[in-house]
Amino acid sequence: MTTAVLSAAAPFLIQQDYGAYTSEQHAVWAELVNRALPELEKHAAQEYLEGFAIIGLKKDKLPDLASISARLAPRTGWSSTPVSGFLPAPAFFEMLATRNFPTTTWLRSRESLEYTPEPDIFHDVFGHVPMHSHKIFADFLEHYGRVCASISDAAPLEKLGRLFWYTVEFGVILQRGEIKVYGSGLISSHGECKNVVEGHCAIHRFSLDEVLETPVKVDELHKSLFAVSSFDQIYEAMHEAERRANSGRM
Ligand SMILES: [Fe+2]
Repeated sequence: MTTAVLSAAAPFLIQQDYGAYTSEQHAVWAELVNRALPELEKHAAQEYLEGFAIIGLKKDKLPDLASISARLAPRTGWSSTPVSGFLPAPAFFEMLATRNFPTTTWLRSRESLEYTPEPDIFHDVFGHVPMHSHKIFADFLEHYGRVCASISDAAPLEKLGRLFWYTVEFGVILQRGEIKVYGSGLISSHGECKNVVEGHCAIHRFSLDEVLETPVKVDELHKSLFAVSSFDQIYEAMHEAERRANSGRM
């Protein structure tokens, strides 16, 4: 997807200087991936694992965003587009609406393998991008961006932020009777993932009403999350959210 249409996001677009990554950084990436994958092979959604292969992620080398985008383009048209860091909401929504996923290029250090206060390339690419190869998820994410880009009131945007949080960031799905993770915050955090798969987190059946009423907690492990039974459910929930927002019922 071209970045030429981006205006709000334009000041935040950067190039990924792939050659500048050090061998230590590639080694940190390898450690993060090799620590997470054995658990994820058991507990991640099938679509995540398929996406991991489709986008050509490597276990021992940091991802080259241009080659990932080239693999995604013919499938869903999403691009993993490098940005300088945290984006203001209008820039973020504009990027999603044009199928450009804002992707940071820096990597956490070995001293903070488990946690970074801001997203890095491990969270963004390993956590998010494999799902962008899935057609329904890809359509949902673009639609989310388009709807949010058209809203300026803070209250409905906060509610829609909860929908993003409990799907894209911390979503779980029921597959063949088991809870599987697909949200990037679960995929890219060993502690958050363990919290779910070891049963320390109550799993509710996904309901748009409940999700919109559940504030986001960023400072503790989740005590409850919402499981969809298929990705069609988040796609449909987004259309219902749009109807509510358009008629002032959000
Ligand atoms: Fe994220």
